[in-house]
Amino acid sequence: MIAIAHLSDIHIDDGQRSRERAARVLSYVNGLSHVDAVVVTGDLADNGAPEEYAQVAALLKSPHMTITCPGNHDKRPEYRAGLLGEPAADAPVNQVMSTPGALYVSLDSSIPGRPNGFIADESLAWLDEVLTTTDTWKPAFVCFHHPPVDLAVPQVDRIRQFDESRLAQVLARHSRVAALLCGHVHTAATTTFAGLPLLIAPGVVSTSLLPFEPNGDRGWEDGGPIDLDAPPSLYFHILHDDGRLTSHLRVVHA
Ligand SMILES: [Fe+2]
Ligand SMILES: [Fe+2]
Repeated sequence: MIAIAHLSDIHIDDGQRSRERAARVLSYVNGLSHVDAVVVTGDLADNGAPEEYAQVAALLKSPHMTITCPGNHDKRPEYRAGLLGEPAADAPVNQVMSTPGALYVSLDSSIPGRPNGFIADESLAWLDEVLTTTDTWKPAFVCFHHPPVDLAVPQVDRIRQFDESRLAQVLARHSRVAALLCGHVHTAATTTFAGLPLLIAPGVVSTSLLPFEPNGDRGWEDGGPIDLDAPPSLYFHILHDDGRLTSHLRVVHA
């Protein structure tokens, strides 16, 4: 059995609020044993500034193996330099991490300067290669920021990942993929894509409220569309030895 701590959308800026919420969640996770991996699915920096990535790097120091992916608020050159110690460059930021229990493949679904998502052909070819050749005996989790399906959250559905059939075609070639991990929506959600579980972590910085129906007569949940007061939360995904997946949502109170 493996356990994954999955959090998202910490949106670190120059204020105390985002930093305190992220620190609260990460210190909770860092105090746990038996976490196979920490996955942070994007929108790490709110503006993509170098000083924001310095804060993110400090926050993400962990006894657990940690993998991230960029979101639409991130900037590739600053992300590379600040988090990966690589020369600043504009190419997609794709990463792979192998733990004792699983392989984690992180794909860049960001489009520089745009809020919506798209996974470049070069990233999909790289994903295909990694899933074919790397630690082939381990289950794989594929992580990216933008969900590739509608979720009945119209303000996010408009800026989801598009041209998603290309991703589905790659995933169909690899039975080792256990689940897809996303963020971007700022509310915990589970659905499916390409026949796989698609698990969307809540937003640490804020919570999106639901209209359920675009322009419907049920309206927003009280206080919508964004709740800044709901406490931050995260998912724990458990992969059982029989291949079943269980997801637990945990709210982290002050
Ligand atoms: Fe976000
Ligand atoms: Fe986002």
